[in-house]
Amino acid sequence: MGQQPFVKNNIEIASDFARDTFQGLSAVPKYLKSKYFYDSEGDKLFQKIMALNEYYLTDCESEILNHQKDELMNFFRDSNTPFLLTELGAGDGQKTEILLHHFFNESVHFQYLPIDISSNVLNLLESKLSADFPGLKVKTYAGDYFQALDRLNKEENGRKVLLFLGSTIGNFEHREAVKFLQSLNKRMDDHDQLIIGFDLKKDPNVILRAYNDPSGFTAKFNLNLLHRINRELEGEFVTDNFYHQPTYDPSTGEAKSFLVSKIDQNVHIGKLNTTFGFKRGESIFTEISQKYDEVMIHNLAEKSGFQVKQIFYDSKKYFVDSLWQKSKKSIV
Ligand code: AVI
Repeated sequence: MGQQPFVKNNIEIASDFARDTFQGLSAVPKYLKSKYFYDSEGDKLFQKIMALNEYYLTDCESEILNHQKDELMNFFRDSNTPFLLTELGAGDGQKTEILLHHFFNESVHFQYLPIDISSNVLNLLESKLSADFPGLKVKTYAGDYFQALDRLNKEENGRKVLLFLGSTIGNFEHREAVKFLQSLNKRMDDHDQLIIGFDLKKDPNVILRAYNDPSGFTAKFNLNLLHRINRELEGEFVTDNFYHQPTYDPSTGEAKSFLVSKIDQNVHIGKLNTTFGFKRGESIFTEISQKYDEVMIHNLAEKSGFQVKQIFYDSKKYFVDSLWQKSKKSIV
């Protein structure tokens, strides 16, 4: 979804990354968009984070899928008519494999349609699945979620079961989350279902540990944003001059990550033809990871034209996968 290029200091800023970096570092207070974490370096770091004990989200969601795969299957099956298991942001599909295994063994009639921004990720996933599940129909869609869904809706006309796992919705500010879910709603039919993961409010220390692991992978993941600016935009960040700072506000459920400047410093970014000043202690806001409670989940569903059909918890009640359908009185 390229935006129009604009001209700054006689330089044409053509890429979304360049434009967003310029806007974010010119704003008060400064910010960078978290979607830019995920270049190939960031993808690797995120895989490491997901395997950490402190990052409880992975185990909790795997437990939900493992323990409640049968109940999920019965919801999806709907008198055994075939369905399209469509995953948004499939990644390496590790958690989804729990469901694929079960459905495959139970001879459920379904196809798997993973969508991901990275075609590289999808190719790897496709070859892995064809070895593990011979005969399973897999069709991959690379690109922006909504463009991919529009293509999918033109090419396929079965009932969809959409998976949006991992609490990725928490990486949107509330208004953006509503807009995103409304756009999803528009691309769904009445009988389609959506499974969406939410990380829940809990002991703040547990949350802070998840975003500040002692092995330092989350810090590296956050600082990778500055490395990426250096790599792709001729940035001159000395990354040791910044540190990773997570915060959690238990009253709102907002977990946030920042990069904080250790010293007064100026950083030139060649491709933006601009030098940005940072005061000692000044922060760059880089990510929100919203934590929810049941009221917030119902509220989000209602605002985006959905009704909550079922909520699946893990045993610690740290995380939920929630089953949504379009509400009858559609407001979008
Ligand atoms: C992808 N997303 C749900 C992760 C989260 O927990 O917000 C990204 C992440 N950021 C730091 N650690 C993991």
